Amino acid sequence: MGASPPLRHVAFIMDGNGRWAKARGKLRTSGHRAGAETVRRVVRHAGNLGIPYLTLYAFSTENWSRPRVEVEALMRLIERFLRTETPELNANGVRLVAIGDVDRLPGKVRRSLDGAIAATRGNERLTLALALNYGGRDEIVRAARKAAEQLVLDGQGVDGLTAESIARCLDAPDMPNPDLVVRTAGEMRLSNFLIWQAAYAELYWSAKTWPEFGEADFDAAVAEYDRRVRKFGGGNPSDSDTARLREYAGRGLKL
Ligand code: FPP
Repeated sequence: MGASPPLRHVAFIMDGNGRWAKARGKLRTSGHRAGAETVRRVVRHAGNLGIPYLTLYAFSTENWSRPRVEVEALMRLIERFLRTETPELNANGVRLVAIGDVDRLPGKVRRSLDGAIAATRGNERLTLALALNYGGRDEIVRAARKAAEQLVLDGQGVDGLTAESIARCLDAPDMPNPDLVVRTAGEMRLSNFLIWQAAYAELYWSAKTWPEFGEADFDAAVAEYDRRVRKFGGGNPSDSDTARLREYAGRGLKL
């Protein structure tokens, strides 16, 4: 173990389903189907690793602009996952939650989502947040509006709007911030994912496409996290220079 706090929350940007399919002469939709298998694998492995929180970027607010047949195929895949996976989630102690503007999902998806959330509510081993119709900026705007509405109800001025009051209104306020954000398929972007919560997250890029991403790749990301030193903007506490600056300050010396 390195100097990082224990890994509690890993968030995945599941990228490369299309490239995986194209390389095999298949349709992108078959890449998404293969991606759903990786979802099952990664959720199971997170439980085995003892990681208590997992977030998966399953459908973004921008994904609606994909071809209609692809959007419909993704919605069908997500709906089937939610409808059929509950026994497996329960067997593995997984509590499902959702982040994103889920009210705008198709009714059938929404009903299966509500059913899976209700059926897994009591599980405690792993909390799995599915990001559905999710956009980080959209989440922040919705949270800021809720926090502002609360201020108005309480008769307070704008000074009452703080980072804490906004954070309390995010979609899953009880989840800790992600320690590690993993993106597959070699892209090095956050793409509007957890942009508030990932402010101090460690970022890890895997060259593997999402359908190829396996247990050993997950282990490699965790091992890399353990090697990182997280500073949260406070300087490196084990750095001798930092220690010396603190000592000077303690003695009232100005530099
Ligand atoms: C990005 O790959 C992936 C998505 C837009 C969808 C992610 C969905 C799944 C992994 C499957 C369904 C999810 C669940 C929870 C069952 P891309 O198509 O953008 O890949 P490309 O960049 O190679 O084209």
